[in-house]
Amino acid sequence: MKFGVLTGGGDCPGLNPAIRAVVRRAAQHGHETLGFLDGWKGLRDDLSRPLSLPDVAEILPRGGTILGSSRTNPFAKEDDAKQVLATIARHRIDGLVAIGGDDTLSAARELHRRGGKVVGVPKTMDNDVAGTDWTFGFHSATAVAVDALERLRDTAGSHHRAIVLEVMGRHAGWVAMATGLAGGADATLVPEEPYDEEALLRHVQHAVTARGYALIVASEGIDLGPRRGAAGAKDEFGHELLGERQVGVEVARRIEKRTGIETRSAQIGHIQRGGAPELFDRILATRLGAYAVDLALAGRFGEVAVLRGPAVAGIPLDEAVGARKVVTPDWLDLLHTFDA
Ligand code: F6P
Repeated sequence: MKFGVLTGGGDCPGLNPAIRAVVRRAAQHGHETLGFLDGWKGLRDDLSRPLSLPDVAEILPRGGTILGSSRTNPFAKEDDAKQVLATIARHRIDGLVAIGGDDTLSAARELHRRGGKVVGVPKTMDNDVAGTDWTFGFHSATAVAVDALERLRDTAGSHHRAIVLEVMGRHAGWVAMATGLAGGADATLVPEEPYDEEALLRHVQHAVTARGYALIVASEGIDLGPRRGAAGAKDEFGHELLGERQVGVEVARRIEKRTGIETRSAQIGHIQRGGAPELFDRILATRLGAYAVDLALAGRFGEVAVLRGPAVAGIPLDEAVGARKVVTPDWLDLLHTFDA
């Protein structure tokens, strides 16, 4: 067989281990792999590179993706869709592994509907893909945010300030929730809950009274009401670039205005997405990449490799796309146990 592999959507740590796993597992069974460049753009525009064992020999610990990525939607225009199918036929691809988040996997589902032999591997630092316990990229990216919060603790304490850390995560609060929980924030704002300014100010004041400073984590996806959030630019899948709203800046402004406590904000942004994948992500990406090849070898196209408890499994792409996985009430309950 000849495999194709692509990485689409926002990059995250773990993509290179997943690519390596696809190539190694395919080679183990005597099959070759072609890498398509820059996500679905590579299939649309026929951009590819062969991936041999030496090509993936050193990539396990590297962040980003050696194949490049983009937010290209190949089914937005019918002509593009035809080009994707033509590229697959031209290279005689017997099985395509699409590694990506909801958008990339939605495109994979559409390709499957049109007869394409494709399997999926979920990834995203947002951890918002349904049907899998965790997506790789999340643990590594959130560890960076926790590190940032710890650094902010030093400077907030020195200056007796409140500091708001804005983290990514789109419309799911997993990154903010885990950063607040693991970093010991005094208040954490997630999109799953309505913004409650009075409660926020209580937590900030309580923390400042108790120990002289306060740390707040805000997810980029929170809704601060009509006064904030003019629509930002949109990507090809129609998603607003939420970071442009700078909700952390606004939350800091409101805290300072209403409490008189000197307040600063920091937006960590794309720093979260870089760097080496952590242990959990390396292993998850490796398992899912290899399992995706197994799915294809078993003829289980239209499925996506996921983590279910201790095991990896294949589920239909339909179950993984379209339904965002958000932070559940039990996590929120635990999180608020530690509010100041
Ligand atoms: O989906 C991953 C993510 O990092 C989101 O958390 C964030 O909103 C978005 O990508 C940023 O997109 P871009 O890299 O296109 O600026």
